[in-house]
Amino acid sequence: MEDQKRSPCPGLVHSLVKAELEGDRLTEEEIIANCIITLVGGLETTTNLIGNGVLTLLRHPDEMQRLRNHPDLIVSAVEELLRYESPSQHTARLAPADVELGGKAVRKRQAVIAVMGAGNRDPERFPDPNRLDLARQDNRHLAFGWAAHFCFGAPLARIEGQIAIGTLLKRFPKIALESAPIVWRENLGLRGLKALHINLQST
Ligand code: HEM
Repeated sequence: MEDQKRSPCPGLVHSLVKAELEGDRLTEEEIIANCIITLVGGLETTTNLIGNGVLTLLRHPDEMQRLRNHPDLIVSAVEELLRYESPSQHTARLAPADVELGGKAVRKRQAVIAVMGAGNRDPERFPDPNRLDLARQDNRHLAFGWAAHFCFGAPLARIEGQIAIGTLLKRFPKIALESAPIVWRENLGLRGLKALHINLQST
């Protein structure tokens, strides 16, 4: 922030330092908080989209072949991979008022955890929710959240996922899982692998 004040150059920090709405500016603390959420929200989540997505395809060879045969499916494929193995599993809110939710009374200021990962497998919303269908229609999943705080990086993450997964399949026609065990990171909220061991040239 100090650098930007001394010698401004365009970019995220610059935009946050300069942002002004009807005379209102972001405080130093708010700028730092926004940098942290953009960095954290934009890095591991997208890594996990790619890692979880490739693992899911390798576990569903018929669907992977379908995508190889129809590369233009990549856009809906990434949406389905986001739904099926959501990189961000839950979020939390404080109730703004006394409300009833799913038959339960929630008092004002009480903390609520919304598990998007569960909503994304809700059989009342998604027919046959545990089936991976790369061409799934009406796939309005919650992987990027919903409403006011809907992910600000969603368009970038989608493009990154489409390019990374699409290119991997195109460049390596024979990728396969190595026999190493699949180990998930121990993080309740961010679902991702510690490592994904794949053989790119499998015969
Ligand atoms: C697959 C990748 C991603 C996933 C699954 C993801 C998921 C989410 C979710 C679920 C939320 C809403 C949280 C809530 O309502 O409490 C969110 C918000 C946010 N995401 Fe992402 N995200 C991804 C990529 C990115 C990228 C690439 C960036 C930045 C370049 C980013 C920046 C943010 C920011 C700044 C917010 C807060 C928005 C707000 O509060 O108004 N995310 N993300």
